[in-house]
Amino acid sequence: MSYSDILIKSAYLLGAILFIIGIKRMNKPATARRGNQVSAIGMLIAIVVTLLQLQIITLPEVMICIAIGSGIGYYVAYKVKMTQMPEMVALFNGFGGLASLGVGLSDYWFKSIENGMVIDNITLVSILLSVLIGGVTFTGSYIAFAKLNGRISGNAIVFKGQHILNLLLLLASCVAGGFVMWQQDMILGMYILAAISLLLGVLVVIPIGGADMPVVISLLNSYSGMAACATGFVLNNYMLIVAGALVGSSGIILTDIMCKGMNRSLLNVVMGGFGQTSATAVTVGGKSDLVVKEVGVEEAAILFESASSVVIVPGYGMAVAQAQHIIKELMELLLKKNINVRFAIHPVAGRMPGHMNVLLAEANVPYDRLLEPDQIDDDLSNTDIVFIVGANDVVNPAARHDKSSPIYGMPIINADKAKTVIVSKRSMASGYAGIENELFGYPNCLMLFGDAKATLTKVVNEIKEM
Ligand code: TAP
Repeated sequence: MSYSDILIKSAYLLGAILFIIGIKRMNKPATARRGNQVSAIGMLIAIVVTLLQLQIITLPEVMICIAIGSGIGYYVAYKVKMTQMPEMVALFNGFGGLASLGVGLSDYWFKSIENGMVIDNITLVSILLSVLIGGVTFTGSYIAFAKLNGRISGNAIVFKGQHILNLLLLLASCVAGGFVMWQQDMILGMYILAAISLLLGVLVVIPIGGADMPVVISLLNSYSGMAACATGFVLNNYMLIVAGALVGSSGIILTDIMCKGMNRSLLNVVMGGFGQTSATAVTVGGKSDLVVKEVGVEEAAILFESASSVVIVPGYGMAVAQAQHIIKELMELLLKKNINVRFAIHPVAGRMPGHMNVLLAEANVPYDRLLEPDQIDDDLSNTDIVFIVGANDVVNPAARHDKSSPIYGMPIINADKAKTVIVSKRSMASGYAGIENELFGYPNCLMLFGDAKATLTKVVNEIKEM
């Protein structure tokens, strides 16, 4: 091994170690930012070393690609709203899949078709996996993106024999791959495999809808990692293997956490159909048959003032209203009055994993006040006020007892157990799952209607004047 080979391999190893340290640090909000920086340094090392190792394409070509990619990435990241982050992650996953598909195909073309080289079995299997997983990830992610931003219906699209068809396509892809293995220079087999993988991506994601979309995005994220890992074997690039394996495994772990958060099995999510039917009344245009009690700003301020413990449950509406800063102000105000304030954070509140934590961290709410449902559940019945800000599905008691509800079995924050529940939302409209929330009609529940930021600002001003 030459001196430069040792240098390149050591640099890749260093980059991989930095990725592992970075990911480790991302598991706590307090160290997450540093974790991101450490991983970014790892990525910088990877790019520099890859440039030094240039073989197939030239430096100017790489520079042009980096400039175009960075330009698009910067523009998209700058423009994207916090609430659109899942769509952006879906797009990124898709590009990762497309890159793996492209590298797999071009490597096969370059070695086998153009230069008549004999590809060893391990590399050939890696190329086939790179094409298959990359293709599924690309179109699957694009469908997820289109569902999330409303370009196509977000509901599950189910037809008879769908899963059998998917199974047959998977078998057909194995047959095409088998032919390529058997007859090395069979470009037709490779094209058929690529076409099947693209079709499979569409068919696998269309039956999934409603609240299952985030799980699918996390799963596709894992696929993009596996595709990158396979591409790493194709290119014999250790860092890509390690980074791909990290993304693949962390994506699967996150998928598992989200499935548990919704009380669904992964198979159940992948088989799809969620959100298609619902026995519970769906609130359309903010109307509902529930009889609810309203509370005004002044009355709400008095209730807060006289409480000794408050638990705030944020949800997607907090993100829409950007109410995190005013919530922090409310928290500080109540703490000054010796009222114990804590936050109950549901793992799938909002629209992406950690959505609430990110927003509350942005507003500098101390991490030790953010509790997971099982850390706070026992205390809820002794809590004076549970203040729900823009959350709906994650506090819906139907999940506990209504077997016909699409969210039945999903662990919820048992907000209804508190002495008083105050809900800040604009109307009686449903949440993501599209179902009515019976909690709003409970005797201990008061509705504080209006945009969360505007209403909370008034409540805070009212408390200040008391
Ligand atoms: P949701 O059930 O989606 O409810 C959000 C509520 O916020 C709505 O009912 C809406 O009512 C209210 N809202 C919207 N804008 C508001 C504003 N400006 N001010 C005040 N309220 C506002 O939210 P959730 O309880 O956080 O539950 C999350 C749901 O999304 C779950 O079903 C989950 O499975 C799903 N999901 C989760 C993720 C992840 S990973 N977190 C990703 C995708 C989907 P009004 O319109 O009446 O105001």
